[in-house]
Amino acid sequence: MSHDVRAYDFSDAENAYAELARDLRALLSGETDLIANAANTAALIYDALPDLNWAGFYLHKDGELVLGPFQGKPACVRIAIGKGVCGTAAERRETVLVEDVHAFPGHIACDSASNSEVVIPLLRGQELLGVLDLDSPKPARFGPVDARGLESLAKVFLQSLD
Ligand code: SME
Repeated sequence: MSHDVRAYDFSDAENAYAELARDLRALLSGETDLIANAANTAALIYDALPDLNWAGFYLHKDGELVLGPFQGKPACVRIAIGKGVCGTAAERRETVLVEDVHAFPGHIACDSASNSEVVIPLLRGQELLGVLDLDSPKPARFGPVDARGLESLAKVFLQSLD
């Protein structure tokens, strides 16, 4: 089976995210391994979305976030809950959209090319599994449609683990 990533038309972002959610479900179907499915989710997102320089996971382990599967430049390994954009999304258990990372108090700069960021918490019931983190060199790259679209992709990923 071929896993070529096809082009998604983000001029209609809602539709592009709906197509991506369908394709991600198909890509992950029949597999429940967390690392494998996180790796393929990061790869699909990184290939499909325009203007990204990083896409991947931090996993919740022993009370902190630890780097998981990702695409992009090497990144910081451990992030405390409550620190940076990732730790803030994990602590609040809600999506955090940052238009300008340089104006976000406590932002952790892993790649100096990053200018905007969105982080989606991954919750299985009450349990925090980790976060999905996307970075962009473009200021204000992510908006509410991206937040909702990425939340739907995170849901497909979480469902694949059951
Ligand atoms: N910028 C993130 C750290 C992770 S890297 O962007 C991959 C943060 O402030 O939490």
